[in-house]
Amino acid sequence: MIPVCEPLTGARELEYVTDCLKTNWISSQGKYLGEFEQKFASYCGCKYGCATTSGTTALHLAVASLGIGKGDEVIVPAFTMAASIFAIVYTGATPVLVDAEPDTWNLDISQIEARITKRTKAIMPVHIYGHPCDMDPIMEIARRHNLFVIEDAAEAHGAEYNGRKAGGIGHIGCFSFYANKIITTGEGGMVITNDAKIADRARRLKDLAYFPEKRFMHTDIGFNYRMTNIQAAIGLAQLERIDEFVEMRRRNAHYYNSRLKDIPGITLPVEKSWAKNVYWMYGILVQDEFGLTRDELMARLSEKGVGTRTFFFSMHRQPCFTEMGLFAGESYPVADELGQRGLYLPSSSGLTLEQKDYVCACIEQIQKAATG
Ligand SMILES: Cc1ncc(COP(=O)(O)O)c(C=O)c1O
Repeated sequence: MIPVCEPLTGARELEYVTDCLKTNWISSQGKYLGEFEQKFASYCGCKYGCATTSGTTALHLAVASLGIGKGDEVIVPAFTMAASIFAIVYTGATPVLVDAEPDTWNLDISQIEARITKRTKAIMPVHIYGHPCDMDPIMEIARRHNLFVIEDAAEAHGAEYNGRKAGGIGHIGCFSFYANKIITTGEGGMVITNDAKIADRARRLKDLAYFPEKRFMHTDIGFNYRMTNIQAAIGLAQLERIDEFVEMRRRNAHYYNSRLKDIPGITLPVEKSWAKNVYWMYGILVQDEFGLTRDELMARLSEKGVGTRTFFFSMHRQPCFTEMGLFAGESYPVADELGQRGLYLPSSSGLTLEQKDYVCACIEQIQKAATG
């Protein structure tokens, strides 16, 4: 089976991890942590990095560090991974959804202002599957309404908006380093910001919120979201190759685009003129002209040994939220359509030409058999 995604690690990761073990710096202090935080933040154009245990905890830490909680609202896309919404709900704040754009699959910016109320504290754009959101208008809306912008860049390491790195444009940005991400630490995440006060609060909250001068006295209800030095060692080795990994993802996408563009009923991912899409996952939409449904195509590909995944299902359809009374009676037709028609193909950085050729040949064959 060609997996949807697998990590690519090498000798440098082994060397750095071995160093952690040999020197006995295996927990959440040690030289790799600080270096990884500083270098990743600076790669994204930010001054401060605060490494965490996952993308989900990075998002929670970000929302909490901005002082957002009960009674507050955060605007977030309906088409995202549930962790974006979980992070808001953990703090007691209320997620308020906007629909997706049909082409980039990112949040529809034209819907944001209508959703702003007196309680709104932040907008959380999510750079879906590696295509950055159109950040200037989002930042302008936030400025006019005095809101924070929390970028969920969990899927967008190295993506660029007008030459600026995704995650480094809003007030705070969050990344995931799960094994399928463009760079990985196994599990892990990071919050980045240019604001020293936000960074300081994030660092304190992630480490049980000790009083700086008095251990075992606590300023807040803190969390233990500390990344280990071993994870950071892997992350640092991965960061040394991030541009190479981004290029590999982009090469995958260009290959898929060139082979799939003429197959009837397949909508390809886009790259706006102002964007550098890193194609974390190479997603397509299966239209009626294809001759099979998305699920049928996935089943046929699976029989041929090609792994795929469906797109996310809209957040207003998730029982965990509707049972809380969230999103009742709301409708997000674009997010629904994406959840119904979208799938992603094998997207690993290390995908070989033979594998990509095989995936495309399978889709061509399946489509011909379905309509022929
Ligand atoms: C958009 C988005 N946000 C947050 C997360 C959560 O990251 P993690 O799995 O590291 O907790 C993910 C994970 O894939 C994601 O895709």
